[in-house]
Amino acid sequence: MWKPDRQSKKPLYEQIADHLEQRISYGEFPPGSLLPSERKLAEQLGVNRSTVILAFAELRSLGIIESRSGSGTRVSQYKWGATPKHTPNWKRYAEGGSFLPNVPFLRRIREALNQNPTLVDFASGELSADLAPMDEIASLMRGHHYTSYLGYDNPQGYTPLRQALEKYLVKYRDIQTTESSILITSGSQQSLFLITQCLLSPGDAVAIEDPSYCYSLPMFQSAGLRLFRLPVDRDGVQPEEIRNLYKKHRIKMIFTNPNFQNPTGTVLNDERRNKLLEIAAELGLPIVEDDPYSLTDYAGVPRPPLKSMDTTGSIIYIGSFSKIAASGLRIGWMVAPNSIVERLADARQQMDFGLSVIPQQVAGQFLKSEHFEPHLDRLRMQLLYKRDLLIEALQKELPDLIQFNIPQGGHHLWCKLVPAVNDAKLLEESIKNGVVFVPGSVYGSDSGFVRFTFARAKAEDIGPGIAGFAKALRELIH
Ligand SMILES: Cc1ncc(COP(=O)(O)O)c(C=O)c1O
Repeated sequence: MWKPDRQSKKPLYEQIADHLEQRISYGEFPPGSLLPSERKLAEQLGVNRSTVILAFAELRSLGIIESRSGSGTRVSQYKWGATPKHTPNWKRYAEGGSFLPNVPFLRRIREALNQNPTLVDFASGELSADLAPMDEIASLMRGHHYTSYLGYDNPQGYTPLRQALEKYLVKYRDIQTTESSILITSGSQQSLFLITQCLLSPGDAVAIEDPSYCYSLPMFQSAGLRLFRLPVDRDGVQPEEIRNLYKKHRIKMIFTNPNFQNPTGTVLNDERRNKLLEIAAELGLPIVEDDPYSLTDYAGVPRPPLKSMDTTGSIIYIGSFSKIAASGLRIGWMVAPNSIVERLADARQQMDFGLSVIPQQVAGQFLKSEHFEPHLDRLRMQLLYKRDLLIEALQKELPDLIQFNIPQGGHHLWCKLVPAVNDAKLLEESIKNGVVFVPGSVYGSDSGFVRFTFARAKAEDIGPGIAGFAKALRELIH
């Protein structure tokens, strides 16, 4: 005898409605037949009668059952009977599966940008068109003969791109690896997805930075992981905290973004890097090092990644083209032990048979070309210029109401508002004033924090955008 699951997140009445709908569709209750009374069903299922009433109301609203006073509740003739056409219940399907919807603030920002593309965009974490190497890529594409056969390729990634990355990783990130330890993914996002889905199980505990980009991803919750926070201060996370989390919760993995962290812009200091590696090695804990921003270091001397200091093989390293070249190419990479790369490439093949070969060819060409290094130099200068425009505008418009540390690389400025205001109201008011940003709570912080991305907006829009934000903030405060 079926009974609703009281541990499930799904309300009892919905579970009962689904269960009855299924029995009806299997023909157990044919069209026109009488359903058991509310009282009887409540007894059978061990729930309150009011819960069954709610379940019936749900089925009635979908036209599956009908109730007439005095003659009980019957399966609808129209929906299940002679009429041959039934519309699938798409609403139910859309709520199905284990993948949670995006964070509401992020959906709201996307909707606002779709409705009004002229909003000054301090929310999207990517480069503006003038910072992306579009001319260089176009000229490479014109001069290069692309593959004459477009078949399914190696799900681990296009071999010439992995070879180019092998050289790139030694030259720019001091990482010695081989093409067989590299997996090409659809941005670093897919690397994170594959790790959470394939290497971890529901109920596993993992440590993430607080605040952090990972916090903004429902993919961690969708995978059933339990998230524990490692607070980030001016120098990154406190590694000793990991020991505590391990003792208390048996964490299975650590996710960190040590260089120009999203959203805070912090860099993990050297002492903490050593400590972090030492603790991970002592506990046999893998670290996922998410490193998309290092090469944006404005001084041009990025810190070496944890991976280059890793003597015990504890690190899965993730890189991306998105923050240094073009997010739309969707090129990311992972460096991991061969057994992990093989496992994830196999899962990858089941998902989509591998990334399209064409952007992989373009990325490989660009990495090897004489354009890559000058592009990086220009990018750093332009990002620094935009960062300074943003800081100048904030100091002019809101000297008394906002505090921040100045990042030395990356795309983001993390700000504290003094006094704090309601995140949702500030976002709505800002949209009215022509500007979007990401409220800090999306990254796990309390309300009263804001992330401004300065890479996406045009340089000339930064001042007016901050003026719009300042107007919104002052209106809320007064
Ligand atoms: C720290 C970090 N990791 C991963 C990503 C995902 O980027 P992509 O999938 O475009 O490489 C982002 C994007 O904002 C990020 O900031």
